[in-house]
Amino acid sequence: MCGIVAYVGRKIAQPLLIEGLKRLEYRGYDSAGIAVLDQKGQMHIRRAVGRISVLENAINTHAHPLPEAHIGMAHTRWATHGAPTEVNAHPHCDDGGHIAVVHNGIIENYSVLKKFLSEKGHTFSSQTDTEVLAMLIGDLYLELKAKNHLAKGASLLQRAVQAALHEVEGTYGIAVVCKDEPDTLVVARKGSPLIIGVGDDEYVVASDASAIVEHTQQVIYLNDNEMAVLKPSSFKTCTIDDMEISPVITQLEHKLEEYELGEYEHYMLKEIFEQPNAIKNCLRGRVEQREGRIVLGGVSELTKQLVSARRFILTGQGTAWHAGLVGDYLMEDLAKVVTECQYASEFRYRNPLVEENTVVVAISQSGETADTLAALREAKDKGATALGVVNVVGSTIARETDAGIYLHAGPEIGVASTKAFTCQCVVLTMLATYLGRRKFMSQTQCQEMIDGLCAIPEQMKRVLEQSDVVKDITNKFCERENWLFLGRGYHYPVALEGALKLKEISYIHAEGMPAAEMKHGPIALIHEGMPVVFIATKGSQYDKVISNIEEVRARGGVIIAIATENDANIRRYSDHVVYVPDVLEPLQPLLSVVPLQLIAYHAAVARGCNVDKPRNLAKSVTVE
Ligand code: G6P
Repeated sequence: MCGIVAYVGRKIAQPLLIEGLKRLEYRGYDSAGIAVLDQKGQMHIRRAVGRISVLENAINTHAHPLPEAHIGMAHTRWATHGAPTEVNAHPHCDDGGHIAVVHNGIIENYSVLKKFLSEKGHTFSSQTDTEVLAMLIGDLYLELKAKNHLAKGASLLQRAVQAALHEVEGTYGIAVVCKDEPDTLVVARKGSPLIIGVGDDEYVVASDASAIVEHTQQVIYLNDNEMAVLKPSSFKTCTIDDMEISPVITQLEHKLEEYELGEYEHYMLKEIFEQPNAIKNCLRGRVEQREGRIVLGGVSELTKQLVSARRFILTGQGTAWHAGLVGDYLMEDLAKVVTECQYASEFRYRNPLVEENTVVVAISQSGETADTLAALREAKDKGATALGVVNVVGSTIARETDAGIYLHAGPEIGVASTKAFTCQCVVLTMLATYLGRRKFMSQTQCQEMIDGLCAIPEQMKRVLEQSDVVKDITNKFCERENWLFLGRGYHYPVALEGALKLKEISYIHAEGMPAAEMKHGPIALIHEGMPVVFIATKGSQYDKVISNIEEVRARGGVIIAIATENDANIRRYSDHVVYVPDVLEPLQPLLSVVPLQLIAYHAAVARGCNVDKPRNLAKSVTVE
């Protein structure tokens, strides 16, 4: 949600910033802007509504080309305060034009600050909270300058940013430059991610590693309430309260190629096809097939606590919440522990009961989702042990949990989450089996689960081979505006996920629900020709699902069944069938979700939608 990239060093900033913005575009894409500061201290800003390509065009066709500056910053926006217009696009300046700011997050007390600054005579040109922050920094900067308030060794800009951030409530990842200090870039964070890439006499700061990896593998992850003052040949990190901190430089986990599209037309398709490998990586070192053992290094120190936990609360948003629902079934089925899955956004505000011996599991691809983070903090404040099931290494949720299990799915760029979902399910399966084995699960069952997990990558390839079959089926119905996705047991969350995927990238209205629930209302929607996707794999509820299929068929619905290989019977009840290999019931979601991801993908392509950047959405939602 909003992407920031900033640079200070010896190279020419503009191409590097634009390239960085393109890599961050999936974080928000309703408007974009860039500011560079030339050696004479002149600020040059260009902004545009729409995608980065529109900004590029605006830069190239502007009467004055951008100068060859060595410091600058850029932003791609997902609007929160103020419509996506050019005046609301970042960077924002103070009214004196001294300061420019790019910001990811929300300044919650912006209206109070705006009133205060207006009364001091400042004039605003946008509706954004960010302009208020720029104005505040500018106002404090001039005040400090007038007092000649330069503490030894500190930049005046640094002081002004620190003073301003003390007044601010809310969340921010910011980069700030000032005309009077044309070699200084100040960055700070609270609640929104910010990573500093450390190169040779240069620094690239960005909201995530994708914009950094091309330039350096060495990074510093800023923590909340920390900031950095960066010059080409020096840098210092400190807290907002000016306590100096020694930076920890770490190595980025992923290489540039992993962020590239490669031979694929869209990131979503690439990530769907990466799933067998992603799952292999997720299992690597954790599943010892020969010994019949699961080894979860990330949680081993807490094993006793986890085994004796009385309750697990799984929480997340969007697709991560769906994985949590699968986890709910897994934990009760395999680990025999009371488990509930809650929307993080609801959990955090309901004053939840967190009894003794409760474990909260925060599930998040990005590790930055604001609601999930807040739910995690709420549960921790109430005494819960906190686990993270996170993909992005070093992300806030990963750092704020007591222990965790990374997905190791590799970077996920497509806004619609796919490989993160299946890897989240794999991690939760391993966790449930790991705990179950320490309680009631026999070695035989544990071995079955392990063998089953290890076979999934190859079996998933067989499902992916049917992409064209799914495409043909989808193309027949992709103009229909209403779809239903139905499943029972482990497939209920999969039905929700299938409907979400279709909604978010193809803009078709779709609902997912437990197949049995349909009779209690939604059946009224069924009409001649309405596509209804049933997940009807072999398992404990197969016969019941067949009955539900009959109910829909009787009312004219078109049945698309996801069924188990060799189930010839299902053809009698369905108009179209996509087969998936026969696997243990707890593992079925890993395969049955794949055709649904492909339905959504092919429908979006057929309808001419922007698959990787669906309207109104952002990959990582760092505001409430
Ligand atoms: C956004 C994305 C979804 C994602 C959800 C949770 O809504 O568009 O694809 O599932 O956030 O994100 P997280 O990073 O916490 O998994």
